[in-house]
Amino acid sequence: MRVTGSALTKQDEEQRGALVERIFHGGIAVLEMLSIYVGDRLGLYRALSRVGPSTGGELARAVGIHERYAREWLEQQAVAGIVEVVTESADGATRTYALAPGHAEVLLDRDSLNYLLPVTWAIPGLAATLPALLAAYRGGGGVPYSDYGAEFRSSIALLNRPMFLNQLGSEWLPAMPDVDRRLRADPPARVADIGCGTGWSSIAMARAYPKARVDGFDLDEPSITSARENAAESGIGDRLHFEARDAAASGQPGSYDLVTAFETIHDMSDPVAVLTKMRTLVAPGGAVLIADEKVAEAFAAPGDEVERFMYGWSVLHCLPVGRVDPPALGTGTVMRPAILRRYASQAGFSGVEILPIQHDLWRFYRLRP
Ligand SMILES: C[S@@+](CC[C@H](N)C(=O)[O-])C[C@H]1O[C@@H](n2cnc3c(N)ncnc32)[C@H](O)[C@@H]1O
Repeated sequence: MRVTGSALTKQDEEQRGALVERIFHGGIAVLEMLSIYVGDRLGLYRALSRVGPSTGGELARAVGIHERYAREWLEQQAVAGIVEVVTESADGATRTYALAPGHAEVLLDRDSLNYLLPVTWAIPGLAATLPALLAAYRGGGGVPYSDYGAEFRSSIALLNRPMFLNQLGSEWLPAMPDVDRRLRADPPARVADIGCGTGWSSIAMARAYPKARVDGFDLDEPSITSARENAAESGIGDRLHFEARDAAASGQPGSYDLVTAFETIHDMSDPVAVLTKMRTLVAPGGAVLIADEKVAEAFAAPGDEVERFMYGWSVLHCLPVGRVDPPALGTGTVMRPAILRRYASQAGFSGVEILPIQHDLWRFYRLRP
């Protein structure tokens, strides 16, 4: 029997040391991510950006929190390299801090492709579902999407929103010239956006194509409520329509020029039924576009960072949400191209083309009815 610690080779010891270091760094990362969440939820970053260099007392007064907490948070943020010390003071009481210039966009600019702060909003939802997740692992069931809560939903929405508003109408859809032409033409084109979440992809398409009408469908009622609010604020709500519905039962067959599903097929309990429905929704000559995670073609360990990122979501969220309703296929976040091709073929599509769109995290598939 090998006794832990007594019979390790040099290589084993190096491996042990590397994991110790990695877990220590992971602990720092989790703590700092949650401190960023605190800074965002209490409006601390926004206040620093608005007011400029501030002491703990000034920041506390600006946002209405207790000074002792403001001071500790600022010290922690400075030690973590997120804010900068502007002027020192001997006892720290009048030390001033400012947001590092390169960090404001990442933390505050909702429209920027660099707005990564919403990743921190997912953590409380992931933590809150852990008891249900453990039960699902033991029993094989699922964890409903709604259990992850409002902040988790917002996390996804705010992370994807800048991509939709900046790239969907200017890069992704123009990669299908026939679709791009149809969306600009008369009679006004109709688009069905399946698993539309809080509606930003639908709004982006209606914005990019001023004649098109977009119907968004999602199973999650609170997402559809937010989508309607977002549409009303967008000023183009008259061309947007949202319904809380299972994708497999959404829309009029044969009536859409384009049917889309952004980062959603891998979350579905029955992706083949949804893809079958998407195929029947398109009018003759219409197109089906799927954007989903750009994972590797095949499993390999160790994996690269995209693979690690996607498996992380899968074991904590996407796999359990895909195991809620029968047939509960449970695809998980790591939906490799071969899996999507298989689903598409089972759904009756004649072919799948990968579109030449540059993107770090997503791959774009055009499915041929
Ligand atoms: C990761 S979110 C993506 C949302 C949105 N497309 C985006 O990119 O921001 C996945 C969405 O799929 C929806 N969904 C999952 N299964 C569904 C189904 N059978 N019918 C409709 N929507 C579904 C969920 O409610 C959730 O809003």
